[in-house]
Amino acid sequence: MDLAKRVSKIKPSPTLAIDAKAKQMKADGIDVVGFGAGEPDFDTPEHIKQAAIDALLGGMTKYTPVPGTLAAKDAIRAKLKRDQGLEYARDQIIVSCGAKHTLYNIFQVLVQEGDEVIIIAPYWVSYPPQVVLAGATPVIVETTEENDFVPVLEDLERAMTGRTRAIVINSPCNPTGAGYPRECLEEIAALAMDRGVFVISDEIYEKTIYGGFEFFSIAQAPGMQDHTVIVNGLSKSYSMTGWRIGYAAGPAPLIGAMTKVQSQSTSNPVSFCMPAVEAALNGPQDFVSEMVARFDERRRYILDRLCALEGVSCFTPKGAFYAFPNFSGLYGHSCRGKAIENSTDLADYFLEEARVALVPGVAFGADRFARLSYATGMENIEKGMDRIEKGILALDR
Ligand SMILES: Cc1ncc(COP(=O)(O)O)c(C=O)c1O
Repeated sequence: MDLAKRVSKIKPSPTLAIDAKAKQMKADGIDVVGFGAGEPDFDTPEHIKQAAIDALLGGMTKYTPVPGTLAAKDAIRAKLKRDQGLEYARDQIIVSCGAKHTLYNIFQVLVQEGDEVIIIAPYWVSYPPQVVLAGATPVIVETTEENDFVPVLEDLERAMTGRTRAIVINSPCNPTGAGYPRECLEEIAALAMDRGVFVISDEIYEKTIYGGFEFFSIAQAPGMQDHTVIVNGLSKSYSMTGWRIGYAAGPAPLIGAMTKVQSQSTSNPVSFCMPAVEAALNGPQDFVSEMVARFDERRRYILDRLCALEGVSCFTPKGAFYAFPNFSGLYGHSCRGKAIENSTDLADYFLEEARVALVPGVAFGADRFARLSYATGMENIEKGMDRIEKGILALDR
């Protein structure tokens, strides 16, 4: 069947694919340890669920305004004021069906053929395809383990051309766990303003931070609020991945255009999730700190285990819930005649031979690495790490 050309330019999400493969193996009775999932393993807090249940039982089952209810938008405004000290008017906020949808809408209204968007690698899997679907060109700027996966300003400067329309910032970062220091964000902000480049700041891992790392939004840099759209959502901070609630805060014309696109595509996000936005953002926050404390224990454990492996190094993540070890020391080795030459071979090897699912780094534009999510129980992590260790020992050397 003849399909539109734009579809052939993208691939399905590799992270969702590996997760689906591991889940299928489990369903077939195979004992797989999954490190693939990008979602907290905790349940959504009761008070948030209750807010949605009450709304549902109370008859909140109809269309709401396209960009979300006033109460939900006010809850987001209150959060941004409280946490970031930033004031937004109601027409500067839109609620969408997950942060992924928020980002999709942003690219649709901000960029077009001929435009370039700077994406910092290793990057979250959906940025490049979403830029491509909007007709624009992703321009990749590499970061290194040695530099804590933080971009070097000169590299960004070099990548900027007359066509650069936007840059995507994702701190804390999926997959690396990098957290950009405030000074670095202020420098990027100054450069972006100087070059007339708009900043898309994906802050979905704002709350999952460790070891004293202080989150700073680039929109907080002097003069930057008008040059930034903040993207955030409930998925990661409140363990609400299935609820599909994301939001954006930015200049009114941009939010207005996103609302127009949303009005012709999905309309409003689920009506009875709106009161859950209020409950999550303005209700008790102890759930978040308890969850982050659990993640932190796992982070330290998995890091110790990874760093003890021969031929493997791992950056200490400052945020999110992923470890991103460099496995390239294992490349060139083989097992039963099958050589591991890249991250895809590595992930296949671990899945087939060790029954451990991890995401190959190539999905994030970093083929020497693989991503392990530690948003899974400690027992699973111990078991998975034992298997990885054994898998590595089984390689011919
Ligand atoms: C960096 C980043 N941004 C955005 C998203 C999308 O989150 P959601 O659509 O679940 O709100 C994710 C989810 O994995 C992510 O890791």
